Amino acid sequence: MPKVKTTFICSNCGARSPKWQGRCHSCGEWNTLVEEVLEPVPSVERWRGQEQKKQHKPVKLSQVDLSPQIRLPTGDTELDRVLGGGMVPGAMVLIGGEPGIGKSTLMLQVALKTQNLKVLYVSGEESQQQIKMRADRMNLDSEDCYILTETNIEQIFQKISELSPDLLIVDSIQTLQTIQSDSIAGSITQIRDCASQLIKFAKDSNVPVFMIGHITKEGSLAGPKVLEHMVDTVLQFEGDRHLSYRILRTSKNRFGPTFELGIYEMHEQGLRGVENPSEILISQREHDLSGVAIAASLEGHRPLLIEIQALVSPSSYGTAQRSSTGFDNRRLNMLLAVLEKRAGFRLGTHDVFLNIAGGLRIEDPAIDLAVAVAVASSLNDMPVPAKFCFCGEIGLGGEIRSVNRVNQRLKEAEKLGFSKMYLSSYALKGIGNTKIQVKGFSRLEELFGDLWG
Ligand code: TYD
Ligand code: MG
Repeated sequence: MPKVKTTFICSNCGARSPKWQGRCHSCGEWNTLVEEVLEPVPSVERWRGQEQKKQHKPVKLSQVDLSPQIRLPTGDTELDRVLGGGMVPGAMVLIGGEPGIGKSTLMLQVALKTQNLKVLYVSGEESQQQIKMRADRMNLDSEDCYILTETNIEQIFQKISELSPDLLIVDSIQTLQTIQSDSIAGSITQIRDCASQLIKFAKDSNVPVFMIGHITKEGSLAGPKVLEHMVDTVLQFEGDRHLSYRILRTSKNRFGPTFELGIYEMHEQGLRGVENPSEILISQREHDLSGVAIAASLEGHRPLLIEIQALVSPSSYGTAQRSSTGFDNRRLNMLLAVLEKRAGFRLGTHDVFLNIAGGLRIEDPAIDLAVAVAVASSLNDMPVPAKFCFCGEIGLGGEIRSVNRVNQRLKEAEKLGFSKMYLSSYALKGIGNTKIQVKGFSRLEELFGDLWG
């Protein structure tokens, strides 16, 4: 019997090493090397033979057919938006998220809600009865949805060829196994082999494929990074499991923008898209509270008014604590330094806690101004009127910078009944008709003077 050859593969970057090492020589991550059985490399002749079967001729770029991309609606407006207008035939979408966040629920909902498409939902995680119970709980049924509980990919392709579905959903890629590889299900070789077979199927048949993927405890998709490189679109389903809101984001999209955001609420009867997120992200307050400021932010094409909460209190230990949820900690530290140096606030001996309501994680720099105002408000115990909102980026010199699409932010604030918006004085030029009182400042100190005078 020939000796079984093995190699060590980094589960983070996919680099190979002949022997085990504590640290990957390529990406520098610790404890990521796992042993895999080495498969014989196909000989050049075999490879050439395979390649010759399907030859693509070089085509002039000017002659490439650019008929408009067909988009298939998923039956879920939030998901359609995140995908860039619906599913693209032959596209491979990977959807990742923590256990229990609702990946299977979302995908089953898509399977049951799409119109006029024959859907095959392959599950390696749940039994048919469990899936049926979930569908009953969501009060959904469809004549065009087929459930297959199988983990062997060869068997799955067999059933696919019998059924010829128009949409394939796989829950999850980590449970699949191919007989072409000896390693166990969930190992890197298996994940990669199964994914590449599914991608080949998607490209050859023009059937869109959704593939659910687990994520590691660090928050990245389990399996080598190559999986993310292989697929067309990577979606992340996130949110706090204890809160009902869920956010769907794109981290890669070959067929659309990556900044769109889908917002869902988990109900007893499944996930429901949230059409007016601002209304739920701003808590109803009877009295003005200190440490709270509303930011007029923009995620993708959608304006969002969100509540920023700060708590600043004298620190009882030697070093002050700084902690934030939903906002980059380094950016918070930078803003605190700017407040200290440019606006004269004494924050060095204070603990600062920052929270973005609703469990959201916001990357829009326009929320800087609301963060600075919330911190200043909490430190001085001076509330900000509930009908005021803020938008602007803050520079290291304490200057308030203009941000993009101010009119869209204004329109949303007007719709929600805000009375005043503070922004950069440079943004005043392009402002259209609005009922809101707009106040522009170029420096933080001036804005604070106007606000609390
Ligand atoms: P699930 O979709 O199985 O998550 P994942 O596939 O990402 O691991 O689970 C979602 C969670 O949501 C589960 O804890 C139960 C809950 N849930 C509801 O609150 N309402 C529902 O209608 C459904 C189907 C699930
Ligand atoms: Mg699941």
